Amino acid sequence: MGIDILDLLKGVDLFSRLSDGQLKVIADVAQRRKYGKEENIIHEDDNSSSTFFLIATGEVKVYLSGSDGRETILAFLGPGDFFGEMSLIDGEPRSASVKVTTTSELVVIQRPDFIEKMRQFPDLAFSFLEEFSLRIRKANRQIGSLSTLTVFGRIAGTLINLAEERGVRTHISDDQMVTKIPNKPTQQQLAEMSGTTRETVSRVLNSLKKKGVIAIVGKDILILEELGLQDAPEIPE
Ligand code: CMP
Repeated sequence: MGIDILDLLKGVDLFSRLSDGQLKVIADVAQRRKYGKEENIIHEDDNSSSTFFLIATGEVKVYLSGSDGRETILAFLGPGDFFGEMSLIDGEPRSASVKVTTTSELVVIQRPDFIEKMRQFPDLAFSFLEEFSLRIRKANRQIGSLSTLTVFGRIAGTLINLAEERGVRTHISDDQMVTKIPNKPTQQQLAEMSGTTRETVSRVLNSLKKKGVIAIVGKDILILEELGLQDAPEIPE
């Protein structure tokens, strides 16, 4: 049994302003699609695709490919998040590439239905604007940290962003609460999110572990103490 699309839409922030009747109208034009690990969904600069995607289960990576082949990761998106809306709204080519990092189920809506529902339900358009504001705030933080912070600060900033996006407050003892980042990205992915190399990420994580600021337990990163950005030491890249 797959996920019931209507039930799925009910739990998604983007649709929280819509009534059950309005959600039914959207569910009627949506379809489910399964993707295997590492499957590409959107190619940067593609100007022929016309689909909007909502993540039901799994995770995707949004990234840019540089001319030297290096990737810059813009975001990891998980259940309830959406992507592919930008080209549908402005008619320009895709702004980034998107691939699934783990087997995922997505809900897709085609452009004409997407545009029609945005016009039909202004509350939906408002929810999109809210999410755009969040994404611009995050992008501003990334731009600010790339130009002003040491590499140590940039990696700490990436961990803070991840903690905000998917962190869970959890007890590790009776009197200690920490933030857990589940399913930690690989060191290569952390490097692509922080504008540095895997080797530097490895050194910075080791330094943070030695100081007792973070711990790595299985697939999780635990943030044990507040991560400082500005007073971080300069580490050669
Ligand atoms: P689109 O340009 O149609 O295709 C690529 C998608 O990646 C884009 O729509 C957005 O949904 C998503 N995307 C682009 N930039 C970011 C970002 N900085 N953060 C999160 N998602 C993004």
